[in-house]
Amino acid sequence: MTSKSPIRAMDAAAMNEAAKLIRDGALVAFATETVYGLGGDATNADAVARIFAAKGRPSFNPLITHVPDIRTAHDIAVFDDRAVDLVNSYWPGPLTLVLPKNPKRSVAELTTAGLDSIAVRVPGSATARKFLNICGVPVAAPSANRSGGISPTRAKHVQMSLSGPDDGGPTMILDGGSCDVGLESTVIDLTTETPTLLRPGGLSIDDIETILGEIEIAGDDNTAPKSPGMMSRHYAPKAALRMNVKKPEKGEAFIGFGHISVLGQPNLSQDGDLLEAAANLFDVLHALDASKTKQIAVAPIPDEDLGMAINDRLRRAVHT
Ligand code: TXA
Ligand code: MG
Repeated sequence: MTSKSPIRAMDAAAMNEAAKLIRDGALVAFATETVYGLGGDATNADAVARIFAAKGRPSFNPLITHVPDIRTAHDIAVFDDRAVDLVNSYWPGPLTLVLPKNPKRSVAELTTAGLDSIAVRVPGSATARKFLNICGVPVAAPSANRSGGISPTRAKHVQMSLSGPDDGGPTMILDGGSCDVGLESTVIDLTTETPTLLRPGGLSIDDIETILGEIEIAGDDNTAPKSPGMMSRHYAPKAALRMNVKKPEKGEAFIGFGHISVLGQPNLSQDGDLLEAAANLFDVLHALDASKTKQIAVAPIPDEDLGMAINDRLRRAVHT
């Protein structure tokens, strides 16, 4: 049997070690007031790809970026008056805001799944904020459980749900006891004219409406998807896209993988490494969009591990 991720009390010594691990691109699970998060450096696409691999998610959805304070949040997201009012009342706390990305200084494309918006939160737990402060980088952190599992509210739950460090799991689990809120943060989208609730959570709708007036609930009308996991809008390139192509047609841009590639065209991973391919995916798609490419062909990507999430995203691009 391979070893489990070590659990350490969330004291200064452990947090310093863990922060260094984060800065080096490794994964660390840590307690927040809502649930335990599986954290990685949000500016490091490889670290973020490792988060998706550890969770075993068959798709890429955008992740929440965690920062220690409001000032740091302003570095990565653009706040309007509504956002300022909300966070003055409820941060630190179980509230996540979806805001326009700060184009000058932001996170890896994979963190936001290629979107030009970013979900950001300052956790209510003082210990979590201290840890984020020591990290010195914004930390992407979904709940620290395997995809489809129950969100962990104790360090032990994380250890039971995820693989150990040798199999892609967190190098360390920071034990901050049991989570006070015990359910994920409320997610509010402020990129729309009317604020929209994307995910109900630890902060009540009434509390939010006290500040913003009436908000929209995603899924209220027939056009919006119903399940919380499906509520993020998806990035798709403007160009038409074909999958499982071994040889592009004339005039087609080609995205290679492993040895199936075209000289002078992008390759998601020369070595055929799915983690590297996931880390590169959105950058490559954005670069082709920027070059005004009309037609993109993509080499076959093995439909296993992170390849499933890559293929899921490519399939969505085919059908939009
Ligand atoms: O309580 C929490 O929020 C926990 C703890 C660890 O902080 N974190 C958490 O993170 O639940 P995550 O990454 O699993 O939450 C992602 C949610 C999803 O509902 C996703 O659709 C939404 O946030 N989201 C993230 N970025 C988005 C974006 N740019 N646009 C729309 N929705 C976004
Ligand atoms: Mg979750």
